[in-house]
Amino acid sequence: HDLELKLEELEKGNFEHYMLKEIFEQPRIVKDCMRGRIDLKVGQISLEGLKNHTKQLKAAKRILIVGCGTSWHAGLIGEYLIEEYARVPVEVEYASEFRYRNPVIGEDDIVIAISQSGETADTIAAINLAKLNGATILSVCNVVGSSIPRLSDGVVYTHAGPEIGVASTKAFTAQVTVLTLMALFMAQNRGTITSSQLIELQTELSTITSKMQTVLDVNKAVKEIAKRISAFGNCLFLGRGIGFPVALEGALKLKEISYIHAEGYPAAEMKHGPIALIDANMPVIFIATKGPSYDKVISNIQEVKARKGNVIAIATEGDKILKEIADEVIEIPAVNECFLPLLAVIPLQLLSYYAAVMRGCNVDQPRNLAKSVTVE
Ligand code: AGP
Repeated sequence: HDLELKLEELEKGNFEHYMLKEIFEQPRIVKDCMRGRIDLKVGQISLEGLKNHTKQLKAAKRILIVGCGTSWHAGLIGEYLIEEYARVPVEVEYASEFRYRNPVIGEDDIVIAISQSGETADTIAAINLAKLNGATILSVCNVVGSSIPRLSDGVVYTHAGPEIGVASTKAFTAQVTVLTLMALFMAQNRGTITSSQLIELQTELSTITSKMQTVLDVNKAVKEIAKRISAFGNCLFLGRGIGFPVALEGALKLKEISYIHAEGYPAAEMKHGPIALIDANMPVIFIATKGPSYDKVISNIQEVKARKGNVIAIATEGDKILKEIADEVIEIPAVNECFLPLLAVIPLQLLSYYAAVMRGCNVDQPRNLAKSVTVE
């Protein structure tokens, strides 16, 4: 028993929980995930798992992405990236809905299955249905040789290493990194991006890990805010554009480890009903970084403030407006909009972690949850 404890301590290092260790591993994991896949000299993305599928990728008229939970959120980010760069229509579906709704699938379709464990029952079933209809199956997975890669025509591994915490963190940012590389790979293959644009994006992507480290360094400020959040029973996460799936992921993290009811929502949708929820007992976390929808998010924040809502804003460092109008501001470095999720999700992971610890929850093994849902 002592040896087991020792081993566990060794693995956790000086972190109190696996989840915190895995949150802090993310800059290294994202670097490992990109290693050997970006050649800045020639401006080339190379993905071993896709090299035999360039023809289908070039001809694809539609891409379907299936996954569950956090992997589904990564899929939503993949949709923004693939449509932005490769200009291919993308549809993202919960694997559990896709498998039962008799979807229209053909041989021209490419299905990308996203799964950390590679054993999620609903995602396996969705793949089998798509295969039956002749689609090409590609997967993004973290466990080499698990069921989903074995069922796929091609797989791109995330190389995040074993993820022990039930709440996915490093696997999520690794999935987003792989999806970014896939979007750029498809764009170079379809000629929808110039080589100079590609080199510019790759250069920014290769510097993202130092920006992720900068965000991790603000974790003390996040701890203070988490203390306030932990006293509430509800929380809203709002974002626009690529910030919307980040809001969904932040809400899932908070609810699954602290048991606070949290909901992610498109910020603009609030006026269609949910704004009735806003009062002094409803903390609202906005992804409010500088980008195409910044001004709109600012007005959404003002709408919430006018109704006594308590606003926490994830802001681009140096933002003066948000310091004026939000109750709390967590600053992250400026970044290309398409790479925002890799930075903006980190404060949300830390917020959830600290809120759960302050509520005395079992962070690594939350109640009712399994690391991989291998049964329906
Ligand atoms: C995420 O924090 C959860 N643990 C859960 O939503 C998870 O993402 C989902 O069950 C999918 O698992 P998979 O990626 O292993 O398929």
